[in-house]
Amino acid sequence: MSDNDAASYGDKIADVYDEWYTQLDTSGAVDFLAELAGPGPVLELGIGTGRLALPLSERGVEVHGIDASEAMVAKLRGKPGGDRIPITMGDFADLEVEGRFSLIAVVFSTFFSLRSQEEQVRCFRNAALHLSEDGLFVIEAFVPDVSRFDRQQRVSASKVKSDDEVMLEVSQHDPTQQRVDAHHIVVSEAGIKMYPVKVRYVYPAELDLMAQLAGLRLRERWGSWRREPLTASSIWHVSVYERARS
Ligand SMILES: C[S@@+](CC[C@H](N)C(=O)[O-])C[C@H]1O[C@@H](n2cnc3c(N)ncnc32)[C@H](O)[C@@H]1O
Repeated sequence: MSDNDAASYGDKIADVYDEWYTQLDTSGAVDFLAELAGPGPVLELGIGTGRLALPLSERGVEVHGIDASEAMVAKLRGKPGGDRIPITMGDFADLEVEGRFSLIAVVFSTFFSLRSQEEQVRCFRNAALHLSEDGLFVIEAFVPDVSRFDRQQRVSASKVKSDDEVMLEVSQHDPTQQRVDAHHIVVSEAGIKMYPVKVRYVYPAELDLMAQLAGLRLRERWGSWRREPLTASSIWHVSVYERARS
């Protein structure tokens, strides 16, 4: 598998993903998405281990997913209700699924895993083609903060877990491409484990332009799933796009 393979992030992180990301506002996200989706159907791009899809499905929302990583999807399938969710294996830039959806969501900065502007625009266009007449496209992503980098690099201690385990984040930034190549590195007495994360980040304004190219427009944008206002110090944004009508 090549470094750029869409599956490589998920295949490497699947075993620790649910344990690492317990701090995310999953219930806020599920409330927000369920309210917008109605009975669905919903399509989640990069459905992963089902963090959002399973609670949405438990609420009676029809949920479908796309993912490139067999290892992530195997985790979802192993959970209660995981066998009921239709999942298409593939690259979500191409969005090769049948049907139209009342809501398409791509959360937790997963949109940024598409590493070129061309793939990101293609994803927007394909999402627009799969929205029902009043369908909504929801993106949750970090607000880029390039001040994190010193001479386009960063090494930080993300966790000192115990006397014998630390987690580091090591990253390099290319501002000309808006790309960050990072590794989460776990160092323990058992050895060293590397978890690569490669993204092309996008500012909210560029997302809005991509929406325009796809025939969509911004309907609402918040600083969190709980509809806190977006401010200059927001770390995350939740952006909701609808069809542009004249
Ligand atoms: C950060 S995880 C998010 C999982 C889940 N949505 C959540 O919020 O917990 C990103 C997921 O997107 C998948 N993924 C990344 N790039 C992809 C691509 N180009 N096509 C399909 N799936 C992709 C990964 O395999 C992984 O399961």
